[in-house]
Amino acid sequence: MPERPVADRPMIEITNVTRSYGAFKALDDANLVIREGEFFSLLGPSGCGKTTLLRMIAGFDNPTTGTIAVDGQAMEGIPANRRPTNMVFQSYAIFPHLNVEQNVAYGLKRLRLDSAEEKRRVEEALGQVSLNGLGKRGATELSGGQRQRVALARALVMRPKVLLLDEPLSALDKKLREQMQVELRRLQQAVGITFVLVTHDQYEALAMSDRIAVMFGGRIAQVASPKEIYQRPVNRQVADFLGGMNFVKAEIVEEQGASLVVDTLGFGRIKTDKPKAFVRNGSGATLGIRPERLRVLWDDSSAKFEVSGKVVERHYFGEITHLIVEIPGLEKPLSVTETNDFGADDIPVGSSIRLAYDPEALVALAD
Ligand SMILES: Nc1ncnc2c1ncn2[C@@H]1O[C@H](COP(=O)(O)OP(=O)(O)OP(=O)(O)O)[C@@H](O)[C@H]1O
Ligand SMILES: [Mg+2]
Repeated sequence: MPERPVADRPMIEITNVTRSYGAFKALDDANLVIREGEFFSLLGPSGCGKTTLLRMIAGFDNPTTGTIAVDGQAMEGIPANRRPTNMVFQSYAIFPHLNVEQNVAYGLKRLRLDSAEEKRRVEEALGQVSLNGLGKRGATELSGGQRQRVALARALVMRPKVLLLDEPLSALDKKLREQMQVELRRLQQAVGITFVLVTHDQYEALAMSDRIAVMFGGRIAQVASPKEIYQRPVNRQVADFLGGMNFVKAEIVEEQGASLVVDTLGFGRIKTDKPKAFVRNGSGATLGIRPERLRVLWDDSSAKFEVSGKVVERHYFGEITHLIVEIPGLEKPLSVTETNDFGADDIPVGSSIRLAYDPEALVALAD
């Protein structure tokens, strides 16, 4: 299925939004535009303000200062049930005394549809989440994954312009979670409405989203595509939060417009893009390189750019092996992940090793 193009039209506009509790700011001057038809994720550690922001979009809470508009309309003073949004809660919040159909139809009652139309919409929503035929099942007779689907169907049946999902998969086991990630993405592509997903799981955000906002301590640190966030994190904190990262100390040789030329002990002289948020702080800088961007060089093969060192630890993960490699001159050993198809799982601890890298994979990081 080809990717559905995201419209270049704002669906949610968050402008200078702060949410204070006394002197504490759960959200601090957030600015964000989420586009129509976008699968957008709010990603960050526990307590960074993700739920706070989602609840304000939904209308369950209000900004202390700042404004939120949805589909071009200011949301101030508009209660949750009159907004073009619908929220799926982490706890699912489905009614145990109602069956699946009744749960899904619950919000529709307000619309006073004729019974044939209501039935048709319920069937359609159950089909969208692959629960066809389970309409008469009691809500307590469902698995965790099925309950999750009922919660989704109940939101979809209202045909919102925006679906807000607060950690919808976190209660599921790993296998089911991964399956639901794929299904949710497919569903969003099929229905074409804007999804805003809250998650603290970086792989979930990377796998599902068109764009991601990474948040720390009530502030938005970076908004970009999964690939850009992973490959070009704006600062150390973002780099560290998204997967493994080797940090390498460097000395700035010169700044050339949007580039930096730096010297490192292990990797020599490197020219790299200067991050947008880069503020020169003396002559030092930090570079980052992902563990999988260091490749083991076997036997007499060579590469244009390589470092040599000694394997000090080896950890086996089935399809990959994780090596810890000491490099002369580097303060900290490098983490290296290598696929096991060439025998990385048999490299002896204590052996010498050469690693190939692409200088492009070394990115300068702001503090
Ligand atoms: N009613 C409240 N009164 C005071 N502080 C609150 C209130 N609600 C949330 N906070 C604080 O605001 C901050 C952000 O909370 P929020 O629930 O948005 O975090 P989160 O990113 O969703 O975290 P998690 O991943 O754990 O769900 C936290 O430090 C939290 O303790
Ligand atoms: Mg939360």
